[in-house]
Amino acid sequence: MRILSGIQPSGTPHIGNYFGMMKQIVDDQYNGETFLFIADYHALTVTPDPNLLSQRIINLALDFLACGLDSEKVIFFKQSDIKEITELSWILSCCTPMGLLERCHSYKDKISNGIIPNCGLFFYPVLMTADILMYKSDIVPVGKDQKQHVEVARDIAIKFNLQYGETFIVPEPKIKDEVAVTPGIDGRKMSKSYGNAIPLFGDQKQIRKIFMKIVTDSKTPEDPKNPDTCNIFALYKLFANKEQTEAMAEKYKAGGLMYGNAKQELFDLYTAHFSPMQKKRDELAKNLDYVKNILRKGAEKASEVARKTIQEVREKVGLK
Ligand code: ADP
Ligand code: TRP
Repeated sequence: MRILSGIQPSGTPHIGNYFGMMKQIVDDQYNGETFLFIADYHALTVTPDPNLLSQRIINLALDFLACGLDSEKVIFFKQSDIKEITELSWILSCCTPMGLLERCHSYKDKISNGIIPNCGLFFYPVLMTADILMYKSDIVPVGKDQKQHVEVARDIAIKFNLQYGETFIVPEPKIKDEVAVTPGIDGRKMSKSYGNAIPLFGDQKQIRKIFMKIVTDSKTPEDPKNPDTCNIFALYKLFANKEQTEAMAEKYKAGGLMYGNAKQELFDLYTAHFSPMQKKRDELAKNLDYVKNILRKGAEKASEVARKTIQEVREKVGLK
């Protein structure tokens, strides 16, 4: 079974990215053959500053390795190192109805948020389809917001196979329901672009301040509270074990809980979870050549698969 996912170097990864996608990849890395890449071509749609982009690429590689990605097991690479991806995107775009892309929520959301779209932003799901189909991936672990894009990849795979004969595997998205949408500190979906995110790594004092800003209702400490509508509790559940979660829910319901204390308990769990990874990250950051070499070796392995696929596709469509 082949598992594949990608993440854009479009900002600092946050705990929504971590629970929605990064942790799933790390947890499953020994259960199949995993391809994971840094979607730097995709990030060009929103990150035009060249220095910032290259900085973010290396930072994201550090983040993933710090989170436990085993580079001996996983094929970890940069999307743009595989030149065949752009060729496959073009060929697939010629099997993609305009309407399929026009219906994509993420494109429509960006426009309704005032972003003036470039063609790359519109084409984004086709490039993502090429990423998925190129490596003949069976399973694509993603957060819920990417589900529609994986469905686009399925539609395009089916259409290509019908038109040119069986070529691509029709991929399945893998979405963990309990972490499908991690809320941000303001209760909206946590996102790099909403200013509501909790980063995985960084200065602990600054990060604690972010935790203390989590929005709650205005109940007094004595009031009984509803854990299921509280942002602190939604985040707490991600880090806590079953007993801790139940005990915290009881505290909410019983009354007498101060939100400030719940935030501190959440911060303590967060710190316990990420501080060993932070240490590992600090170590890795001292040897960036080692990290770059991992990406280079990953690209060599991914290229082998890509070359075969593109040759097969060229023949199927008549580019002989
Ligand atoms: P962002 O919206 O912060 O820019 P990305 O689009 O780069 O995040 O998403 C990277 C991965 O993390 C995707 O698989 C996406 O589905 C997942 N993801 C992003 N935000 C969340 C969230 N709030 N909850 C769960 N998963 C998320
Ligand atoms: N669009 C994805 C995101 O923003 C990143 C991505 C690019 C991806 N290509 C992919 C994810 C292929 C899964 C499979 O998170």
